[in-house]
Amino acid sequence: MLEAAPGVPHAAHAVVDPEPIEAPTATDEVVVLDYGGQYSQLIARRVRECGVFSELLPHHVGAEEVRRRRPKGLILSGGPASVYADGAPRLDPELLELDVPVLGICYGMQLLARELGGRVEGAEVGEFGRSQLTVREPGRLLAGLPRDQTCWMSHRDTVFTPPPGFTALASSTASPVAALESVERGVYGIQFHPEVVHTPYGQAIIERFLEDVCGTARAWSPASIIEEQVERIRLQVGDGKVICGLSGGVDSSVAALLVHRAVGDQLTCVFVDHGLMRKNEGEQVVAAFRDHFGVPLVHVDAEDRFLARLRGVSDPEAKRKAIGAEFIRVFEEEAAKLEGARYLVQGTLYSDVIESGGGTGAATIKSHHNVGGLPEDLEFELIEPLRALFKDEVRAVGAELGLPERLVWRQPFPGPGLAIRVVGGEATKERLEVLREADAILQDEIRRAGLYRELWQSFCVLPDVRTVGVQGDERTYGHVVVIRAVTSDDAMTADWARLPYDLLEQIASRMINEIREVNRVVLDITSKPPGTIEWE
Ligand code: XMP
Repeated sequence: MLEAAPGVPHAAHAVVDPEPIEAPTATDEVVVLDYGGQYSQLIARRVRECGVFSELLPHHVGAEEVRRRRPKGLILSGGPASVYADGAPRLDPELLELDVPVLGICYGMQLLARELGGRVEGAEVGEFGRSQLTVREPGRLLAGLPRDQTCWMSHRDTVFTPPPGFTALASSTASPVAALESVERGVYGIQFHPEVVHTPYGQAIIERFLEDVCGTARAWSPASIIEEQVERIRLQVGDGKVICGLSGGVDSSVAALLVHRAVGDQLTCVFVDHGLMRKNEGEQVVAAFRDHFGVPLVHVDAEDRFLARLRGVSDPEAKRKAIGAEFIRVFEEEAAKLEGARYLVQGTLYSDVIESGGGTGAATIKSHHNVGGLPEDLEFELIEPLRALFKDEVRAVGAELGLPERLVWRQPFPGPGLAIRVVGGEATKERLEVLREADAILQDEIRRAGLYRELWQSFCVLPDVRTVGVQGDERTYGHVVVIRAVTSDDAMTADWARLPYDLLEQIASRMINEIREVNRVVLDITSKPPGTIEWE
């Protein structure tokens, strides 16, 4: 196990209107209304971990929109505002007339308490981080849980008195009312965050709310997702032809397999091998898809074309653009050969959908989001079977579909591949080769140490510098390899991973012994922010 590193605080996010997704029809749903808290997505994920489909909607969607989904329960998220601040999101009282149980978390609880006549005020001191919770009256929500437990808090406004008819269930170090309920009204509230791992009984509380209060059935599972998607894809596609760009990553792999399960050989996958992949990755994709699953696969070996495009290019954005443009050209050429293909598979995930309403003017840090993607004016109808899924669910579906473990758990890899890891200079074949070998050693050692899945990403960077060394009594002038390993939940923030020293030593000595051109290995200990995960 890696030692837990101190977390990097997440910023609250802007609440935007996502494009709609199609919710499953056969399983119960619980709606999470997003008041802008840092953990809102996590609440929906935790609900889904209990086998109940959950959708995250902006707080301002209105009661009608919520009612349309016929949810079995409603959760109001936390948020960064004070309930007393000008322009702070309000509670739409109609939400309490939907006849479904409501659970307010943090800001959500304060909204409920205030709307229903409780006393909520700014406290002298805030309560941030770990806190001690004492359950005074378990009531329905906290039944069966220990009297004393730790929980995770992040608030300044505090509920001092519950609304009339409500029971105060618990208090904490700085919150006289840290949990409350009115079983009669079907309204529940907790001041702390049950969705984060630092609240050990958090998941148990969410489960109690879902099962004992809302009466939901545990029916949302990888198997049910597959069944539902296969049916939808068949309906959408009929006997049409489908094309899918495989990248070797888990999203496009799972999307392709779902479509193949649905329409078989009506699907053709195109794998554009740009020669910028990690060692053996191309072969693994071909082995899994063509040989194992029997998916019709066009494997385009385009290394020379991409290297030619990259000649003389050292600016990171120019590299991305060159690769992106060449990718589209190759893909279009292949698509044109597959006459009559009308549908295109894309591995869009729910997190992309949630964030898609964006456009809030955030600065472009890197132009990565569409690089390696396809332009919007391709004349295809999109099939997006992962639109309602979080990454961990995509992995679970992949495993259920029989995707090899290596592909299911593959760490994220940028579309422009190793080219943006040869930094400060041109991505030549020779440099890419050195980087690929170093990366293979790193992956090998990280896997052997059992750390691969714990890391969000682990990779090498090859800066365009040489340093002096001495090997076998001879002066050397060789490459420096940088080891970059991070932990993260979503790549928005990341912490450098505390890899064990012995492991680092083993990696460094293998790199220097096995790769002639390398004579120095260094470790990147920058978190994000202020660094980004990649170097370019
Ligand atoms: P940064 O470096 O911005 O990366 O912290 C965040 C996540 O995005 C990945 N990344 C890319 N993905 N094309 C991609 O498809 C790109 O050009 C690109 N650049 C960065 C990065 O690996 C990390 O997971």
